[in-house]
Amino acid sequence: MMMVLRTDRAGLYTRHDDLSAREAKALGRALCQRCSGTPLQHLTGEQAFRRISVLVRPGVFIPRPETEILVDVALRAMGDAAAPVVVDVGTGTGAIALAIKDEAPDAAVFATDVSSEAVELARDNAARLGLDVRVLEGDLLEPLPPELQGAVDVVVSNPPYIGEEEYRDLPPDVLVDPRDALVGGIDLVERLARAARPWLGAGGVLAMEIGATQGVEAAEVLKGAGYGDGRIESDLTGRDRVVVGRGP
Ligand SMILES: C[S@@+](CC[C@H](N)C(=O)[O-])C[C@H]1O[C@@H](n2cnc3c(N)ncnc32)[C@H](O)[C@@H]1O
Repeated sequence: MMMVLRTDRAGLYTRHDDLSAREAKALGRALCQRCSGTPLQHLTGEQAFRRISVLVRPGVFIPRPETEILVDVALRAMGDAAAPVVVDVGTGTGAIALAIKDEAPDAAVFATDVSSEAVELARDNAARLGLDVRVLEGDLLEPLPPELQGAVDVVVSNPPYIGEEEYRDLPPDVLVDPRDALVGGIDLVERLARAARPWLGAGGVLAMEIGATQGVEAAEVLKGAGYGDGRIESDLTGRDRVVVGRGP
């Protein structure tokens, strides 16, 4: 209704007019699409994430509110560094990278994604928000400029951590997101942990979103990949949500 009437919540509450025929038709069309499984974000074309709002498009993962906690972890990990270097791996719409740049303007923020559609959308979002984030296309951290090896303060990622079996049981509204944005499992978590190590500077931090049942395994994976520890952070519902490891 807010989208159709081009207003905000307060505008809705204070409105006394009836819907025009055009508005009623537009709302009816949107409701039909919603009832047949189109996510709300594909109808409105955007998703709020922390202090910003990003454009979303079919073919690119829709950012979830539970991922906002990962930005808190990354901001804390940056500590007092004067101009920290941060890399968001698997950036999708760019939500995490852009939120970090928005809240820590002095950070040098890089973002990567293997999907060209995601890279294009993240660049569009960066331009629209006027946030200077460099978005690069390729596998994990491979597309980063080589001079960043050993110089990154924080690698942050919401990787595709769902396993094949779990994928088959997902509700239809989650299956709207591209399969490659969802399926990777603990194998991808491990590949990312190993790939990130050489890029981290002394005391650098890797923070990754994980599935609610992956906490113990993910912490082991980080230790096995040479991180000093594998700490788990829970979300507001008390579920394991983020694994954090500090490089040597
Ligand atoms: C769960 S989505 C997260 C998107 C975004 N970070 C967010 O939280 O909204 C995972 C993203 O990782 C990307 N991806 C999957 N495999 C990748 C790889 N090997 N290297 C880089 N990106 C990858 C997908 O294209 C997708 O955009």
